[in-house]
Parts: sequence; structure tokens; C-alpha cells
Amino acid sequence: MAVVGIVPAAGNGERLGASEPKAFALCAGRPLLDWSVDVLAGVCQRVVVAVPAGREHGPDRVRGGPSRSASVRAALLVAPEASTVVIHDAARPLLSRDLVERCLAAVYEGWDGAVAAARMTDTVKQADRDGRVLRTLERSSLWSIQTPQVFRAEVLRRALDVDEGRLAAATDDASLVEDLGGAVRVIEAPPDNLKVTRAVDLELAGSLLMAAR
Ligand code: C5P
Repeated sequence: MAVVGIVPAAGNGERLGASEPKAFALCAGRPLLDWSVDVLAGVCQRVVVAVPAGREHGPDRVRGGPSRSASVRAALLVAPEASTVVIHDAARPLLSRDLVERCLAAVYEGWDGAVAAARMTDTVKQADRDGRVLRTLERSSLWSIQTPQVFRAEVLRRALDVDEGRLAAATDDASLVEDLGGAVRVIEAPPDNLKVTRAVDLELAGSLLMAAR
């Protein structure tokens, strides 16, 4: 019975334009990945990181898969002792311990999953392939979904037991749990839990991390 952290860090991060995979790009003087691993290590008994091929040096580093959820599955496979799983993208280095603990608390209360999320601040419209607006969605019930995402391990294992095509289509792990009928709730995240996608995000995250030290 253990809380295990999983960090999918096996993407190549083409949009960042860095010479190495995104999780290994330097942010405030350290590899992006290390910021998340440090926070998870304070809350989890073990942290398993899914890395690109050739970077599996050290304990608890496993080779990632062809998609984000395939990487999560590869990491979970080496942690059979997990009873609760905290998944957090290496691309979000401003993770706070408080946010992880609030997600964990929801799962301990009985939810199958709890996911960090931000309220939508923009108006959201649905458009067809030609860009013609079909409708404006009701913003008050919409959330932009982030990580950490925390799950009961037994439910997550079943959710990830699908073919590679379904794993590749999943943009988060919670959607796979939802497919099973799992009960997932959102947990409001602080505004700085940003995702590093482009070079400008890396600079901003680095400045915020430096200021917080
Ligand atoms: O590409 P994106 O930024 O959405 O990826 C989110 C996270 O998933 C990143 O931390 C990335 O390293 C990870 N990932 C992975 N395996 C893949 C693709 C992405 O671990 N095959």
C-alpha cells in the first residue's frame, strides 16, 4: 500500500525548440523535471519517471511509450505496490505540495480520481472545420484540466488497460478513468501551475521559480 508519483517526461517537446527533450531543458538552473520530482518526493513513497529512450539511467527511470498515457502505463507497471497514484507532467515545474495534498484528500474521501483544474477565463466557442462558430459554451461549468491527477491505483490500472490507439487519443489520464464510469472531480489549482510548451513559458516559469527561492 503506497502512494506512488509518476512523472511522464518522455516527450520530445518539439514546440519548445530546445536541443534536448523538454523535461531536460534547464529551468532556473536545473532540469525542468527535477522541480516536479522534488515536490512529489515529499509526498509520495516513490517517484517513477518515464523518460525518452537512452535516458533510463538511475533507479525508477523507465523508458516512456509512444504517447503520454503509454508513458504513464509503463511507469505504473514497475510500481505494483501503488495503492494511490499521483501523476504530474514534467512540463509543470511550479507544482505545489498543497495542490497535491488537496487532490490526494479527495481520493481518500472516496473519489476514483481528482484532477487539478483552472476555471475558464476566456469565452469558449465551438467551431466546425471551416472555422464557422457553431455555439458559445456555458463558461461557468467549464474547467481547463491540468496535472497533478490523482487516482486510486486499481481504477487507473483498469483504465490504462486499453489499446495503444485509445491511449494515444487520450489527452489526459482522467478521461480514461471517465470512460470506465469512474467518479472524477476537479480541484481548483493556483494560477501559477503553468505548463511549459514554448520557449516563452520556460522563461516565465524560470523567473517565477527564481523569485520563489
Ligand atoms: O507534449 P505535452 O507537453 O503535452 O506532454 C505532456 C507531458 O507528457 C510532458 O511532461 C511530456 O514529457 C510527457 N510525455 C511522455 N511521453 C510521451 C509524450 C509526452 O511522457 N510519449
